[in-house]
Amino acid sequence: RVADAVALQPDMELVGIADIVTDWRIQSAAGRFPLFASTDEAQQTMLQAGLPVAGSLEDLLGQADVIADTTPKHVAAENLPRYRAAGVKLVLQGGESHETTGHSFVAQANYESALGRDMTRVVSCNTTSIVRVLGALQDADLLAKARGVLIRRATDPWESHLGGIMNTMVPESKIPSHQGPDAQTVLPGLDLVTIAAKGAHTQTHNHYWTLQLTRPASREEVLAALRAAPRIAFIRMADGLVALNSTIELMNDLGRPRGDMWEVAVWE
Ligand SMILES: NC(=O)c1ccc[n+]([C@@H]2O[C@H](COP(=O)([O-])OP(=O)(O)OC[C@H]3O[C@@H](n4cnc5c(N)ncnc54)[C@H](O)[C@@H]3O)[C@@H](O)[C@H]2O)c1
Repeated sequence: RVADAVALQPDMELVGIADIVTDWRIQSAAGRFPLFASTDEAQQTMLQAGLPVAGSLEDLLGQADVIADTTPKHVAAENLPRYRAAGVKLVLQGGESHETTGHSFVAQANYESALGRDMTRVVSCNTTSIVRVLGALQDADLLAKARGVLIRRATDPWESHLGGIMNTMVPESKIPSHQGPDAQTVLPGLDLVTIAAKGAHTQTHNHYWTLQLTRPASREEVLAALRAAPRIAFIRMADGLVALNSTIELMNDLGRPRGDMWEVAVWE
């Protein structure tokens, strides 16, 4: 996803992808993008598997200005010294802690504070959704407090044969769940508490909010505040979009790559 997105930017050039696997995921990227190996061991196994490896992570770092690291949790933090030594700028994913980069990012909320920085962290999908929706209400001076319940998916679709929960719902044992404090790393002024649980599904998350507003406001005022923000899309049950699965089908029908929904869907 990230490589495809970079390749579409007119002001960016994709140097390549570094990974450690030899499976279908990297095979589908081979031939489209130059491949690099993140470790010496991986370089051997990738070459043995017939993958066209262009070099090591250090070779990639030598040609790149910016690294977007989308590896599993803690890998980026471990690789940080290699990135710093190469003098590249860094964009990490939300699996790393805020402290790793000292800056957490949601484009529409705090773009300015990322300018000139060497590192930032793009927060998770759940946190991004919170910041977009509550940030829009805050920008309209409507939001006093938010208390939210997050029903998360159990696992990624591509990993669902490996495990994941079935026929149950698993609450997080801690309140607040980590998404609330995470959203406050982007919008420190938010008064919010989140509770989260994992459902037995693999696609999309579902949030429920109880909001206290700063003043009495009409339904139209609230909708207008959400409409003014980018990347919030309204969906309607009257259109047959009655559950999470139908939003996925809609994205597929609209021809969105991988059926992705880039917006937060809000039931109007
Ligand atoms: N998938 C999501 O919806 C989602 C949402 C929010 C945050 N995140 C975060 O984004 C990150 C990536 O998520 P994902 O689901 O794509 O993970 P993933 O497990 O599919 O891994 C992403 C890629 O990193 C590669 N990789 C693994 N170890 C590596 C290493 N040592 N060096 C280089 N490459 C390595 C994998 O082979 C894979 O191609 C995670 O940290 C996750 O917490 C993911």
